[in-house]
Amino acid sequence: MAVMTIGMRVRSRLTAKARSHHDHLKVLVVGMGSITPSPYELVESAARDFRPGKLTKFCERAIPRRTPYAETMTGLRWGILATGGIAGAFASDLRTAGLDLVAVGSRSQESADAFAARFDIAHAHPSYEALVSDPDVDIVYVSTPHPMHHENARLALEHGKHVLVEKAFTLNRTQAEDLQQLAAERGLLVMEAMWTRYLPHMVRIRELLADGALGEIRAVSADHTQQLPTDPAHRLNALELGGGALLDLGIYPISFVWDVLGAPTTIRAVGRLVETGADSEVATVMIHESGAVSTTLSSSRGAGPNAASIVGTEARIDIDRVWYTPTTFRVVRPDGTVQEEYVSEVEGRGMQYQALAAERLVRDGLLEGDILPIAESVAIMGALDEIRAQIGVRYPGEEDDRG
Ligand SMILES: NC(=O)c1ccc[n+]([C@@H]2O[C@H](COP(=O)([O-])OP(=O)(O)OC[C@H]3O[C@@H](n4cnc5c(N)ncnc54)[C@H](OP(=O)(O)O)[C@@H]3O)[C@@H](O)[C@H]2O)c1
Repeated sequence: MAVMTIGMRVRSRLTAKARSHHDHLKVLVVGMGSITPSPYELVESAARDFRPGKLTKFCERAIPRRTPYAETMTGLRWGILATGGIAGAFASDLRTAGLDLVAVGSRSQESADAFAARFDIAHAHPSYEALVSDPDVDIVYVSTPHPMHHENARLALEHGKHVLVEKAFTLNRTQAEDLQQLAAERGLLVMEAMWTRYLPHMVRIRELLADGALGEIRAVSADHTQQLPTDPAHRLNALELGGGALLDLGIYPISFVWDVLGAPTTIRAVGRLVETGADSEVATVMIHESGAVSTTLSSSRGAGPNAASIVGTEARIDIDRVWYTPTTFRVVRPDGTVQEEYVSEVEGRGMQYQALAAERLVRDGLLEGDILPIAESVAIMGALDEIRAQIGVRYPGEEDDRG
C-alpha cells in the first residue's frame, strides 16, 4: 500500500477547485495489479470527488507502466544503499517515473524490510554487501552520509555495479579520484547525484547560455541556506559524519557557478564554525576561466532567499526560490523587460531526471555524460578541499587521504 502525492504536471491538469487544495489531495494505491486507468485518469477522477483533507481510494495500482518518461527508460534495475531521508525521496521519484527499483540494502534487516514495504521493493537486504551482491541489481544509488560514500561506492564497483553517488560525491578529492579510476578500470558508470543539473529548468538555462542569450556573462550568484538541526551529534554538525554547510549545501551553488562559468582560477572563502569544528556558514568569491566572478553562500542555521542569478551584458537570468529544485526563472533585459519566463512542470521532487540520465549513459555504453562529467565532480571536490583549507575544516582521518 502506498500514498501517491500529486506532481506539478498532474496538478496543472486538475480543476481549479482541486488545484487550490492540491496539497491535501492524496491518491491511495492498493495492491500491485495491472495499470488501468492511467495516473492522470486516476487523479482526474480524484479531483471530481475531491473534498479537502479527504483521502480518496480508487484503484488497484497506480505505478505506471507508461509514463511521461517512457521514451527514455531503459529497464536498468536499481538498488538503494541505505534507508535514510534522501533514500526515501529518491525511491519515491523512481516510482513516480516508473523506473525499475528492485532492491534495498541497510545495516539492519528491520530498516530494509520497512523501506521495502514502503516502496514495494522485491529484495530487502540486511547489509550493503548483500545488496551489491544481488544479481538482479544493475546500478546502486549510494545515500549514506558523505564519509561513507567512498567505501560504499567502491564496494558496489568492486561487485560490478554502476553507481550513482549522493552529493557531496566524497569527503575529498583523493577519494573522488580513487572512484573515478576504479570505475574506469572496471568499465562502469560512476556518477555524482547532483540532481539539480538534470532538472528541466537547468536544461533550458544551458540552452539559453549556449545560444548566447545573455551576451557575455559577467557574474553568477547563488545561495543555499536552510535552518537545519543544531544537535552536535546530527549528520550536519558531527565531523565524523562529514558535517558542515559546505559539503551539504554549499556544494549546490558551487557546482552551479562551475556549470555556468567553468572551473575557478581563484578561490577566496570565509566561514564560520560551530563548536564541533564543522562549518555553519561559508561564503566564496571566485574568478573563473572566462574571467567572470561568482559569489556563493551556504548556511545551515538560517533560511535565506535560495535564489540564483546569472548576469550577462545583454540580459540576466533570475532563478526563483528554491533555485536548485524545480522552479521558475525569467530572462530579464537590462531595462527590466522580461524576455522569457519558464515554469517547471515536474512530478515528484525531480530526482528522477538524474536517474534517467544515468540509465541513458549505461544504455549507450558511456562512462560519463556531458552534464556533469566525472572529472568535473573530482575537480569540484578539489575546490571544496581548498575552501575547507581556507576556513579551517578538516575531517577525521583526512591527513592520510589528503596526503
Ligand atoms: N539530493 C538531495 O537533495 C539530498 C538531500 C539530503 C541529503 N542528501 C545527501 O544524502 C546523503 C544522506 O543524507 P540523508 O539526509 O538521507 O541522511 P540520513 O537521513 O541520516 O540517512 C543516512 C543513512 O545512511 C546509513 N548510514 C550508514 N552509516 C551510517 C552512520 N554511521 N550514521 C548514520 N547513518 C548511516 C543509514 O541507513 P541504514 O541504517 O539503512 O544503513 C542512514 O539511514 C548525504 O550525503 C547528503 O548530503 C542529498
